[in-house]
Amino acid sequence: MKIRPATTQDLSTILTIENLSFPSPWTEPHFLYELKENPYAFLLVAEAEGFVVGYIDFWITFQQAQINNLAVMPHLRHRGIGKTMLMDAVERMKKAGCQSVTLEVRVSNTIAQKLYGTYGFKKLIKKSRYYADGEDAWLMELRI
Ligand SMILES: CC(C)(COP(=O)(O)OP(=O)(O)OC[C@H]1O[C@@H](n2cnc3c(N)ncnc32)[C@H](O)[C@@H]1OP(=O)(O)O)[C@@H](O)C(=O)NCCC(=O)NCCS
Repeated sequence: MKIRPATTQDLSTILTIENLSFPSPWTEPHFLYELKENPYAFLLVAEAEGFVVGYIDFWITFQQAQINNLAVMPHLRHRGIGKTMLMDAVERMKKAGCQSVTLEVRVSNTIAQKLYGTYGFKKLIKKSRYYADGEDAWLMELRI
């Protein structure tokens, strides 16, 4: 498996994974903005045997990074793909001089919390009604 920057050719698979993964998915314009316009954005894909199997989107703004989206094709989960993308992203953040990375995760998303916790992320605060459907989020941070 390799991790590489996404291109516009990857968008349809990214959107498929996004729609299968999140209750309020990003749409094509969100991803196009990340790819083409946002100077702080990194959109990477995991590719296995020529197929895109997951992606991660994050921003690096000076010494601070923020993970916005991380998802893996549902039938390929729990095989180490998410962890590999997270480790690759954090390495890039380290190289860019970041001191910390934050993310928000649904309080019900215990699988993602376990992944981040295993990697050293700590829960900082609970953001009340953070999501459009009223669910709370944990703000998590990794000092790097
Ligand atoms: C969260 C997600 C990206 C993890 O990707 P993944 O490739 O399945 O995860 P990995 O196989 O790399 O697993 C890494 C760790 O996550 C946890 N984990 C992953 N799947 C799990 C499961 N089904 N049950 C319990 N823990 C699980 C474990 O701690 C695992 O480490 P371990 O294998 O040593 O036990 C994936 O489940 C996903 O796409 N979920 C939907 C989108 C989402 O919730 N994204 C996060 C938004 S904040």
